[in-house]
Amino acid sequence: MTPDRQHALDLMTPGQSASAPLQERLDGVIHELLASFPNPAHLSAADRRGIIARYSAVLEGNFIYWMTATYLAVESDEAHAIIEDNLREEVRDNHPGMLRKFAMAADAMPTDSDALAVNRDLQGVRQFVARLSGVRLVVMMAFFEGWITKFMPYLAELAARQGSTEQEYTDVHGVVDIVHTQGLFQALDAELALLPEPVPPMAQLLEGAEALGALISTIVHFRAGAIGRTTSEGR
Ligand SMILES: [Fe+2]
Repeated sequence: MTPDRQHALDLMTPGQSASAPLQERLDGVIHELLASFPNPAHLSAADRRGIIARYSAVLEGNFIYWMTATYLAVESDEAHAIIEDNLREEVRDNHPGMLRKFAMAADAMPTDSDALAVNRDLQGVRQFVARLSGVRLVVMMAFFEGWITKFMPYLAELAARQGSTEQEYTDVHGVVDIVHTQGLFQALDAELALLPEPVPPMAQLLEGAEALGALISTIVHFRAGAIGRTTSEGR
């Protein structure tokens, strides 16, 4: 039996949350990503600025649109309700504005070079999002929220080392995204329950999360002069 097939069967184990194996897998990927990140104390000011700027270039204009796409793609009432709550909070509390303020205070407003650095991987995620595949999008966004929560202390440290005292964005997202992540796994359970059997292999369900992982890796690991490398390098 292939590992994928085993995972697919695991997803159907009675009594266990159907999303549990996926959650475990995503936790592992997040852990690996974080472990690969350079120690902020060893980064130059330009490297620190670059990470904040690329993070900002990706998140500010895309997060709400990707969550909206997820809303459009899911089928269950439960997933719709959970994602709507998430979107309302993003919009009502002006999270894009909060991120802009954070980047500006750290003197890390994205430039055209920052946008170009993430362009290829960003387009990869957008192409995936355009397929509006409900379950896979919920998996991707649960991964995103889970990673963001764990990344906030790192991002806050980069900004502090840039001399910034503006931490509203990182303070808020270190907390609310824990709840959002849990909500998205609940939404995922509701969506998985509607899937016709057999449940697709885990590798297929992780497609969007994988594309997003490549983008996150580029946000953190990109170095000037390295344009043109493949996304898998340095991961
Ligand atoms: Fe947010």
